[in-house]
Amino acid sequence: MLKTRTEQELKRYLEDRRVRIDRTLETYLPSATTIPTRLHEAMRYSLFAGGKRIRPILAIAALESVGGNGEEALPVVSAIELVHTYSLIHDDLPAMDDDDTRRGRLTSHKKFGEAAAILAGDALLTAAFAMLSDRDLNRTIPPAILLSVIDELGRAAGSLGMVGGQFADIASEGMIGTQTISEETLQYVHSHKTGSLICAAVRIGALLGVAGPDALSSLTVYGEKAGLAFQVADDILDLEGTEKETGKRVRKDGAHKKLTYPVIVGLAESKRLADQLIREGLEAVSSFGVEADPLRAIARYIVERKS
Ligand code: IPE
Ligand code: IPE
Ligand code: MG
Ligand code: MG
Ligand code: MG
Repeated sequence: MLKTRTEQELKRYLEDRRVRIDRTLETYLPSATTIPTRLHEAMRYSLFAGGKRIRPILAIAALESVGGNGEEALPVVSAIELVHTYSLIHDDLPAMDDDDTRRGRLTSHKKFGEAAAILAGDALLTAAFAMLSDRDLNRTIPPAILLSVIDELGRAAGSLGMVGGQFADIASEGMIGTQTISEETLQYVHSHKTGSLICAAVRIGALLGVAGPDALSSLTVYGEKAGLAFQVADDILDLEGTEKETGKRVRKDGAHKKLTYPVIVGLAESKRLADQLIREGLEAVSSFGVEADPLRAIARYIVERKS
């Protein structure tokens, strides 16, 4: 087990897990020559465009933090990436954020048209739950655990989680400058549209590792803090990042009058808040042993990343 003491070790850890996740998804997803070929091509186009795979990696790190082994859980944790990729395809649609580039290439609807992009997203979301409930693929995982994972992901992805946050994000467009927006509203949007899935990834790792109630609640706090910090960092990257590094157009939130932390509390305060959230996340897992070192390193990476 890597201790991820240095940046180099973290890089190796992320790269190693990313390759395994990509291999798992590659084997599971229908090939681009499977009918309807254009649909499968679109699904693969967005999925294999070089995402960080941070959600499945967080699930593996959480599983390892409670003494588990990530290898047998690869299909389950990889399914989270299918949900995430669907959310990105739909997030970029003209009716949502109307973006042209994602993961360093044209967005799905720009490349395949809107109908194909909507359906590729639908198919990725559905494939996630088929992948999770596939008994052959997950034969070493007890059915009761698989069911708890499906429950976790279903709740986090839906109207009480990610989709609820996305709805509130869109509903808030244009509010800036016309009405006072509370930090509670801002926090609701960010902790739901992005935090929910990240927290679910961490909790799924804990569930797979059969974590006890104390460890599960500590990891839940870690997941909530890291999840919110991730979106604050994304807002900061929209202002300070480059298109080359992030793979998506930058300085677009202002143009769309998006509710972001820098707009509401300022850039310096956003950075301070992201750091504070990470400190609180680290504090929540302070009683864990060296097995939680990758989780600790990823928390820091979430606010220090450039992409
Ligand atoms: C981007 O997510 C969308 C947000 C929820 C902020 P990531 O920054 O994880 O994007 P990829 O998966 O690496 O492309
Ligand atoms: C995206 O938030 C959240 C989800 C996709 C669920 P953003 O709209 O800020 O993400 P980017 O900046 O387009 O990646
Ligand atoms: Mg959005
Ligand atoms: Mg967007
Ligand atoms: Mg963004």
